[in-house]
Amino acid sequence: MENYLLVTGGAGFIGSNFIRRCLSVRPDWCIVNLDALTYAGNPANLEDLGPNLAARYQFIHGDIKDTALIDRIFSEHDLGGIVHFAAESHVDRSIVGPEAFVDTNVTGTFRLLEASRRNWGKGNVKKFFRFLHVSTDEVYGSLGSHGYFTEETAYDPSSPYSASKAASDHFVKAYFRTYGLPAMITNCSNNYGPYQFPEKLIPLMILNIIEERPLPVYGDGKNIRDWLYVVDHCDAIIKVLEEGRPGETYNIGGGAERENIEIVRLLCNLMDTRLGRSGDKSSHRLIQFVADRPGHDRRYAIDATKIKNQLGWKPGHEFEEAIEATVDWYINNLKWVNSVRSGEYRKWIETNYQGR
Ligand code: NAD
Ligand code: DAU
Repeated sequence: MENYLLVTGGAGFIGSNFIRRCLSVRPDWCIVNLDALTYAGNPANLEDLGPNLAARYQFIHGDIKDTALIDRIFSEHDLGGIVHFAAESHVDRSIVGPEAFVDTNVTGTFRLLEASRRNWGKGNVKKFFRFLHVSTDEVYGSLGSHGYFTEETAYDPSSPYSASKAASDHFVKAYFRTYGLPAMITNCSNNYGPYQFPEKLIPLMILNIIEERPLPVYGDGKNIRDWLYVVDHCDAIIKVLEEGRPGETYNIGGGAERENIEIVRLLCNLMDTRLGRSGDKSSHRLIQFVADRPGHDRRYAIDATKIKNQLGWKPGHEFEEAIEATVDWYINNLKWVNSVRSGEYRKWIETNYQGR
């Protein structure tokens, strides 16, 4: 792995954790972070890097669809790879407004691939080059009570979000097959951890518990997600980047399947202990079953055998410990929470939960 890496969407949840992790565990890597700073992007996520890490980090405010800008980044840096996180990532938002998902996730990925094809192999781009596309298990659709998603599972997306990610995955595969671009895809399960935007289940519930607001559980609460600690995901991406084979897909999962209602009850228990609530003051009283998400996938579960056997990765954190660390992170970082809850955020919460 050569040492200049372009990270897209590095001001978001997983991207910022990835940059922090990479700069810490790979002291010879330099990172250029290209991010458009949508509602989900926050440069404050990386403000506290400290001088040692910050010296190897550069932020560029821009859009992945800006072809001239991508060409310029290629010409100014001897890139050894791109890790592509930038996306519209929230399923509920894709139901309300799908177009932005096509724009960023499909067109944006396509433009980035085109720029990579144009510049890869030119004099100023190192011989070792990898395009790592960060995708989701949602492209595989929904599982029943048995079975797991493998890399061979047929694509069957349910939401505009997952359809847009599926489309982008197909473009990445096509660029490998047609042009030989050394691209790889990772499809991972639900991440949790620090810096996750509080529109997603875990941070939303933690903050609503603190503020004694209703905890909206969609449908019967028995939908299952396979939870992956974000730092474990970042380590898996580093593995794939360094040792993965071009043209391959790697599934990444936490091996921690939980029903949504179990997650919400666990968060109530953890928060009650920390906030000194019990009896009729317990946070469990805030749980409310609300109208289901349209097209709501019932169960996701990853078979991560391939990345375990071929690259030697497995999750390094137990769910029970990492969820406690996550809860504590939010309690200790309310300043960050307030800084990301803009007027736009409040508008979204009002729109999404109104009438549910
Ligand atoms: P996020 O919404 O927290 O962050 C997305 C980032 O992309 C933001 O910083 C945003 O400003 C940036 N961005 C959006 N449009 C852009 C554009 N046109 N140009 C440049 N930057 C742009 O997302 P996340 O949860 O960190 O997810 C990162 C990636 O991982 C996404 O591709 C998502 O599909 C995938 N993924 C996420 C999860 C999860 O549980 N969060 C699981 C599987 C896969
Ligand atoms: O599986 C990977 C995917 O995980 C990623 O590709 C997406 O980017 C990421 O957002 C996430 O998608 P989900 O839709 O699974 O995550 P979310 O946190 O929105 O919801 C998790 C589950 O909780 C889901 O079954 C819906 C439910 N839910 C969610 C919210 C926000 C509720 O019951 N109430 C809520 O208020």
